Amino acid sequence: MASLLVLLLLGALTHACLGQIDYDYTSLIGLSNTFYKIQRQGRLPDNDVPWRGDTFLDDGQDIGVDLSGGHFDAGDFVKFMFPYAGFTTIINWGIIDFPTGYEASVLSGALETVRTSLNFLLKTHPQANTIHAQMGNGTLDHSWWGRPEDWPYGPRPTYTITESRPGSELGSEYAAAFASGYLVFKERDPAFAATMLQHARQAYNFAYTYRGKYSDSVPEAADFYNSWSGYGDDLGYGALWMYRATNDSQYRTFADILWNEFGYAGSNAQQFSWDDKYAGIFVLGLRLTGEEKYRAKAIQFCDNTVNTALRTPKGLVFLGEWGPLRYASNAVYICLQLADLGVNAATYRAFARQQIGYILGDTGRSFVVGFGINPPRFSHHRPSSCPPRPQVCDWNLYNGNQPNYYDVTGAIVGGPDANDVYEDSRQLWQHTEVGLDYNAAYQSNLAALHSLRKAGLLH
Ligand SMILES: *[C@@H]1O[C@H](CO)[C@@H](O)[C@H](O)[C@H]1NC(C)=O
Ligand SMILES: *[C@@H]1O[C@H](CO)[C@@H](O)[C@H](O)[C@H]1NC(C)=O
Repeated sequence: MASLLVLLLLGALTHACLGQIDYDYTSLIGLSNTFYKIQRQGRLPDNDVPWRGDTFLDDGQDIGVDLSGGHFDAGDFVKFMFPYAGFTTIINWGIIDFPTGYEASVLSGALETVRTSLNFLLKTHPQANTIHAQMGNGTLDHSWWGRPEDWPYGPRPTYTITESRPGSELGSEYAAAFASGYLVFKERDPAFAATMLQHARQAYNFAYTYRGKYSDSVPEAADFYNSWSGYGDDLGYGALWMYRATNDSQYRTFADILWNEFGYAGSNAQQFSWDDKYAGIFVLGLRLTGEEKYRAKAIQFCDNTVNTALRTPKGLVFLGEWGPLRYASNAVYICLQLADLGVNAATYRAFARQQIGYILGDTGRSFVVGFGINPPRFSHHRPSSCPPRPQVCDWNLYNGNQPNYYDVTGAIVGGPDANDVYEDSRQLWQHTEVGLDYNAAYQSNLAALHSLRKAGLLH
């Protein structure tokens, strides 16, 4: 009887402590930097990830240009430039708005991530109205399991948007990435920043002038990153980033025109994602203009997320079956932005700490590879799954029972189902894959939380 009571008490105490764990956000940012380092392709400038080598040096060969470099999208190898530009902006955004969240020890790694990415965006934007939208055939890529260094199918196809095959999502997301890149680098590297700004203006003008849905112009992208929300959201998000970088009222006018043209006031966005940028428009618009129309929509988004959206029994806000942790993390980032603007700050920050705590291990397991309690060991990630040569790495390994040979350190996996069940299996890619887009807002959240802790605002 007494021992039962003790057990019950212990249970209650453990529960009371959930969400109270003090994670070292800075070292977690360092691990996230490592994830982005692992994802690099092209000719690697260092041996920082000893088990990775040069890959896909012949990208672009089919059209006579060099498009090597950049990063693997996820557990596969294709370069899908729509989410690629998007993730770059989100990392930049955290560096810009939560600078005290980045200690010097990890800031350099984050700057390296975005510089690598921005350099690749430059490479794929060779002329004002040309963007190379994709390198690689997604179907062929997904039909093969092995080391990227051993890719057996030769040069990959390149897909490009132009004036006659436009893609306003892509031009807008490029503009956002370049504009935010300008803000990150304007004091750190003025020459690089000036290049960013020039490309930002060109990319935005291309997107705004030559309207079209990118996944119609590049149907090969549609099975992987279709533009479900269309380009109306991306154009507004890009316009606001341009306004932030330039203070040129022309872009604010564009944002106002787009507000009406695409009916932003009627947006009922439930997610902030690689596709859906409405919530980003609302918090960024509020930050830049202070206008009530943005404030009301931003609050609608966050209040829905915090109060109404589906939760798992253990409290994760569950906004999508495929990679729920990144949807939670993305929404958290929007609400930390809103808190930073003085709106419902205590509520949104407590929500943020709880959601990120879920990812880091508050419910008894970590969802960050290589970190914490019982972390994932079977992530759907080709490079880290493979043992070194000459051992074979193929579908038998994929289907086998052995954990990944290496860790894709610092990556968050897709996450559990709506009942908090997480089965760690390479075959369940909706739950165990990792991705450039998954880690971006997660990393910016770590920076935001660290900055709040330093300021004594994390309770
Ligand atoms: C992509 O790869 C698949 C599978 O090998 C193939 O059937 C298809 O024709 C390829 N598409 C293009 C555009 O090359
Ligand atoms: C931005 O432009 C407005 C007027 O258009 C001006 O009042 C303001 O000082 C400018 N801000 C910056 C940071 O240049």
